[in-house]
Amino acid sequence: MLIGIPREPDALVSATPDTVAKLIKLGYKVQVQAGAGEQASFPDPQYVEAGAEIVGDDVWSADIITALDTPREQDRAAMRQGAVLIARMAPGRSGKLVEELAGRNLTGLAMDAVPRISRAQSVDVLSSQANIAGYRAVIEAANVFGRLFTGQVTAAGKVPPATVYVIGAGVAGLAAIGTANSMGAVVRATDLRPETAEQVESMGAQFVPIPAETQESDDGYAKEMTADQAAAAAKLYAAESAKADIVITTANIPGRTSPVLLTEADVAAMKPGSVIVDMAAANGGNCTLTRAGEVVTTNNGVTIIGYTDLAGRLPAQASQLFGQNIVNLLKLMTPGRDGQLVIDLDDEIIRGITVTQASDQGIGNILWPPPPVKVSAAAQPAVTPAGLSAPDGAQAVDAHEGGKGVAWKLIAGLLGVALVLASPMQVASQYMLLLLAIVVGFYVITAVTHKLHTPLMSETNAISGIILIGAILQVGSSSLVVSALAFVAIVVASINIFGGFFVTRRMLGMFDGGER
Ligand code: NAI
Repeated sequence: MLIGIPREPDALVSATPDTVAKLIKLGYKVQVQAGAGEQASFPDPQYVEAGAEIVGDDVWSADIITALDTPREQDRAAMRQGAVLIARMAPGRSGKLVEELAGRNLTGLAMDAVPRISRAQSVDVLSSQANIAGYRAVIEAANVFGRLFTGQVTAAGKVPPATVYVIGAGVAGLAAIGTANSMGAVVRATDLRPETAEQVESMGAQFVPIPAETQESDDGYAKEMTADQAAAAAKLYAAESAKADIVITTANIPGRTSPVLLTEADVAAMKPGSVIVDMAAANGGNCTLTRAGEVVTTNNGVTIIGYTDLAGRLPAQASQLFGQNIVNLLKLMTPGRDGQLVIDLDDEIIRGITVTQASDQGIGNILWPPPPVKVSAAAQPAVTPAGLSAPDGAQAVDAHEGGKGVAWKLIAGLLGVALVLASPMQVASQYMLLLLAIVVGFYVITAVTHKLHTPLMSETNAISGIILIGAILQVGSSSLVVSALAFVAIVVASINIFGGFFVTRRMLGMFDGGER
């Protein structure tokens, strides 16, 4: 099948030379509209080198069109019946568009409707673009903010670091936190979803919770606040913003206009020279004074940036990531790697994004909205206390499993005691020691949280070292059984030690760019 890459109205492009080469590897032919990548620094010859053909307006007659957003009406009209349009199309808010696509017998795949499940991460354009936009939001703020981000102690005096407050710790918020932190600012952040606290802290910021019970999400997105939460949150946002030099708002609830977090009075209480970057500007804005696409400065000297094209301000990388998301989607939809697109509606990612499907009857079927996909972005509690939140069935299973576990422990304990009683005096005390070590070890290790399993492994390396020394001392024993056991101990302990070193080295490599 033939994929068409049209020129976009802004600087981005839906495929780069790199992703074009990957599409061709999947068996597709690719046509690129002349000048499509120009503004993102991808001139036409690079696309030709990657294997694409440069065309004019004919690009719209391809079998598959990939675009950033819904193309203009005249371009949609130029698409041929049965073709596939892959783009962001906000289907939840564009009922007319969905009907029109069906009427034109086009298959519409909405890249902004990818369900937030881990398998779909590689296809999620909202995340890849929000990540870049979060970074750019900080750069825009730094550009307007008339001071250093990082604190300094110089011969001429001390400069305090800038304070940044981020509201909404989703993809964009976390990227903004990471960027501001790496630039030396002191960062604080709040999110409706308490489960984001850990992520915020891991990015180097302090999590400031809303002092009211908040709801966990069941689809990876926030739910609307109750009146109590809203009142507590409004107070918090006003107080934190008044203290901060830079406020970045990213609060977003899908399918609704963005919640208002900062009122005119809140902005009036902010320090002169401070900056607000309202990332939700395109969807109504989180601040009442934001103007979409514009920069406004208030009477008290607060600058409010309402750019709606933050990702587009880094067009090369934003295009590369968008293009890679498309490649990942087409990998999923081209099982034969033969350039033939397969729409498998049993796949929850494909079903989630398929808005309309072309048919042989000359009119497409409307498949929007898709059935809900339930995911939880919440960290699962390590232990569910009996009688609390676990569903009834789960408790029943737990109780059953728990009963089985106790029985096993009892049998193992009895066997251990029998072994101690039956053994000769000189080894009985050693068996006793071994039994106690097993019991203590079991309870200590099972109580270690998942996240600490790697440090735990390093700890067991040290224990393996002791075992190794003991086994080396015993391997020359006159008893064949002792020698054999010592040999096995040497092998097993060595695997643990060397394996541990290998894994730790690989992990450290991830932090310093794989130089190890
Ligand atoms: P997301 O859904 O991953 O994150 C939004 C976060 O806001 C969630 O963690 C949610 O829990 C939180 N939130 C919602 N209501 C809140 C409230 N009242 N108080 C505190 N937290 C609240 O969304 P993502 O991908 O991070 O995008 C964030 C925003 O940035 C969206 O509005 C998106 O449209 C916008 N965006 C703007 C761009 C631009 O150029 N201006 C570019 C890319 C994204």
